[in-house]
Amino acid sequence: AKGAAMVTAVASRVQAQRKQIDKVLALFRLTQEQLVGVQDKMRAELEYGLKRDTHSLATVKMLPTYVCGMPDGTEKGKFLALDLGGTNFRVLLVKIRSGRRSVRMYNKIFAIPLEIMQGTGEELFDHIVQCIADFLDYMGLKGAQLPLGFTFSFPCRQASIDKGTLIGWTKGFKATDCEGEDVVDMLREAIKRRNEFDLDIVAVVNDTVGTMMTCGYEDPNCEIGLIAGTGSNLCYMEEMRNIELVEGDEGKMCINTEWGGFGDNGCIDDIRTQYDKEVDEGSLNPGKQRYEKMTSGMYLGEIVRQILIDLTKQGLLFRGQISERLRTRGIFETKFLSQIESDRLALLQVRRILQQLGLDSTCEDSIVVKEVCGAVSRRAAQLCGAGLAAIVEKRREDQGLERLRITVGVDGTLYKLHPHFSRILQETVKELAPRCDVTFMLSEDGSGKGAALITAVAKRLQQAWKN
Ligand code: GLC
Repeated sequence: AKGAAMVTAVASRVQAQRKQIDKVLALFRLTQEQLVGVQDKMRAELEYGLKRDTHSLATVKMLPTYVCGMPDGTEKGKFLALDLGGTNFRVLLVKIRSGRRSVRMYNKIFAIPLEIMQGTGEELFDHIVQCIADFLDYMGLKGAQLPLGFTFSFPCRQASIDKGTLIGWTKGFKATDCEGEDVVDMLREAIKRRNEFDLDIVAVVNDTVGTMMTCGYEDPNCEIGLIAGTGSNLCYMEEMRNIELVEGDEGKMCINTEWGGFGDNGCIDDIRTQYDKEVDEGSLNPGKQRYEKMTSGMYLGEIVRQILIDLTKQGLLFRGQISERLRTRGIFETKFLSQIESDRLALLQVRRILQQLGLDSTCEDSIVVKEVCGAVSRRAAQLCGAGLAAIVEKRREDQGLERLRITVGVDGTLYKLHPHFSRILQETVKELAPRCDVTFMLSEDGSGKGAALITAVAKRLQQAWKN
């Protein structure tokens, strides 16, 4: 009888623990109604951002990019491209051949050490120019004066295609003396300081815009660029008449929404959890980029880590022991989340991954960790889907269409590596924007190729002006 009583006691403790875990997971489950709420608020913010009177207050910045058309296939030539702000920093040589629409690329990845990412602006740009010099050397191109497209994946206020004032750093960057400065000028000055070569900087481009352009090169229906990677952002082609900040009513211009800042006025605080708040407070930019912090690769692992810490504190995980490792920021990179959530992975392998991260887990622990990862990434994909639904619905209404067919060019490690993110995102868009047929097109190296294509178009237009 004593044995039976013990079994019942253990069983009820297990049940109670399960309840506690479920309570935490439930915080990440969004109802259809909540998702529609996010979609509606995103829509309202988009409209604020476009209007002159409300622009400065909008959390979705809606930045004009001065990219007004897609490549037409006549672009050609050799271009340099820089790609700063994603998972890697890269320098690329891009060769575009007209007619056949073929593009060849050579690139080199360079590390940007943390002390440079968070040092002074001058150091950062000197480092970038150093990398360009290495690359030109490596390619045997020293002395060549090539046009350059600069993919700079941060919010910039642009007054033309070759000017971009950094509004504020996002993601992991924090170099001093850059905010409020024109990044093209900063690059030019660094090139001058080195006094070794000259480059013709033609365009500064957000990665979303590069991605849209790259996909647009093959599919003219592509009018949206989406990044779900280290950061989260979207650009799309908007009617000029709706863009109050830019003169003119004819045609369209690409708008970089910078939707990562959505919610910075507190409008989605009802769905933010204590874990989201902890992640925000521990970040380089507290209070900023709240939507990005719920939807992108740089932060999802951190949300997971905060939940695991809490569950451990409650005695529900890791035998109640918070290890040094678990206290370490940034241990769960996107690639680990992706591995842990892969359906093909046996639990034993999940444990092995946790082991690699320095976390000793039991079999039960590994089940819980997997569930936590699933809840966090699912919410991210749904939130991202709700945002995208707001955009496609706006485009459909603006064009007065019963149905809209549109292609979205997508890039980013979260979208590409994660086993479920892309599917859940797509399902959410279908549900929230049922009158839009949205095709998703993976971009192959959108940042580099896109910057070169935009540079090529800008060059072509420059020539046309001169003639
Ligand atoms: C951040 C940046 C944005 C970029 C995105 C994806 O949100 O602010 O400019 O497009 O990350 O890299």
